[in-house]
Amino acid sequence: MSLIKQGHESTVWSHLPRFYGETPTSLGAANESELLLDDHGDPAQTLERYLQQYGFDASIKAAVERLCHWLQETGILTRNLLPHNLVIIERDSQQEILLVDGLGAPTVPRLLSALPAWRKRYITRRVRRFYKRIDWELSDREYSWEVSQRL
Ligand SMILES: Nc1ncnc2c1ncn2[C@@H]1O[C@H](COP(=O)(O)OP(=O)(O)O)[C@@H](O)[C@H]1O
Ligand SMILES: [Mg+2]
Repeated sequence: MSLIKQGHESTVWSHLPRFYGETPTSLGAANESELLLDDHGDPAQTLERYLQQYGFDASIKAAVERLCHWLQETGILTRNLLPHNLVIIERDSQQEILLVDGLGAPTVPRLLSALPAWRKRYITRRVRRFYKRIDWELSDREYSWEVSQRL
C-alpha cells in the first residue's frame, strides 16, 4: 500500500497479480485479483509443475533471481515461498514469477517489521529457504520437507 501511495504501483504489480478489491460471492465476500493465464488462455502453470516438467533450468533460475531481488528491493514481506503458490507468466518475451498466495507476514510484530534492517534479514531468510525448497522439490524426497529443513 505504501509503495502504491509513493507512486511505485508498477513495481508492486511486477510480481503480484493485480488486486481488484472485495467482491461478493455465494460463499461470502472474497478478494478479487487478476487471473494469470498462459498462451492458450488457461490458468498459468505453477513453479511446482514447471520444476517437475523442466527442472530448474537457466530461464526459470533467472526468473527466481528477479523475484528474490524484487522482494529485497521493495521490502515486501511474505510467508515461506512455496512453489505451488508461485505462478509463471510470459512477459516481454521472458518468464516472470508472480506470488499468488502467501503475501504478508501476519505473525511478525509491527514494530519489528517497521525496521528496514530487520525486514532485510527476514527476507534473506525467506529467500534462502526458498532455494532449499526448490532443491527439495527436485530431490528424491527421501525426507519430508519438515524433516529436511532440520538436516
Ligand atoms: N491469480 C491467479 N492466477 C492463476 N492461477 C492462480 C491464481 N491464484 C491462484 N491460482 C492457482 O490456484 C492454486 C490455489 O490458489 P491459492 O491462492 O494458493 O489457494 P490455496 O492455497 O488456498 O489452495 C494455485 O496453486 C495456482 O495454481
Ligand atoms: Mg496456496
